Amino acid sequence: MTRIAESELILNTRGAVYHLDVRPEELAETIITVGDPDRVKAVSRHFDRVEGTYQHREFVTHTGYIGQKRLSVVSTGIGTDNIDIVLNELDALANIDFDTRMVKEEPVSLQIIRLGTAGSLQESIPVDSFVVSSHGLGLDNLLPFYTYHNTPEELQLLEAFRGQIRLQPSAARPYLIEAAPALLERFNEGFHQGITVTCPGFYAPQGRVLRGNLSHPELIEQLSHFSFENRHITNFEMETAGIYGLGRVLGHQCLSISAIVANRIRQEFSKDGNAAVMALIEKAVGIIAQ
Ligand code: URA
Repeated sequence: MTRIAESELILNTRGAVYHLDVRPEELAETIITVGDPDRVKAVSRHFDRVEGTYQHREFVTHTGYIGQKRLSVVSTGIGTDNIDIVLNELDALANIDFDTRMVKEEPVSLQIIRLGTAGSLQESIPVDSFVVSSHGLGLDNLLPFYTYHNTPEELQLLEAFRGQIRLQPSAARPYLIEAAPALLERFNEGFHQGITVTCPGFYAPQGRVLRGNLSHPELIEQLSHFSFENRHITNFEMETAGIYGLGRVLGHQCLSISAIVANRIRQEFSKDGNAAVMALIEKAVGIIAQ
């Protein structure tokens, strides 16, 4: 095994991983991610005890306990470029010995659960409801930089997507990864379920026009009508496929759950998106802590 150089795994003066400013013993094996740094405390408010808080730039981490269960909550900021940083550093904290800079022999598989927001692509999935992502379908360009494998089922679904949604090849190279089945099955009651499309932006990549015109004006219509073996695209947002993809690459179990704040078919926005996210946090943390 080779030693990982100082330029590749960057540690700060307190021996913490650079972007997150967290040391290995300061991270739990069950991790909730939120986008907004201010929402970290909305999650750790549900902890019985907070053992430590850490912050560098937009990456805020609180680690603590609910009963006997140790949990960390980490803010990622927006987008799969940030997810690349957060997932790699979480993995390094669990699986690289910071003294020797060698990969540990026994891999640790983390549970990583995103609690975020999304736009609904189905009339029947209203604002303020919750969607758990059975699959993340990436229109961003993160995962093509890694090697990974797909299951035969994932390849079939991806093939169907490529057949039905004809994006310009220069715009996106879609990829698809499923949720961790053992996590997915715990979030049944009170959650819609479906394929989540992860976009490399909020405006044109999600079909929004302010002043810039769209290269693919049919995007929303095509995504909302996609169908393959009774599977449908429920929503889109900006992190899920990156999390599922790096979970596959690095061997972690990942799940993404979104509060729907916009319905793009009905052209509605939540009257109180923050309340919807707080309700999701309360419901999901209760299930995660079990
Ligand atoms: N987040 C997104 O990325 N899109 C939405 O429409 C709402 C939340």
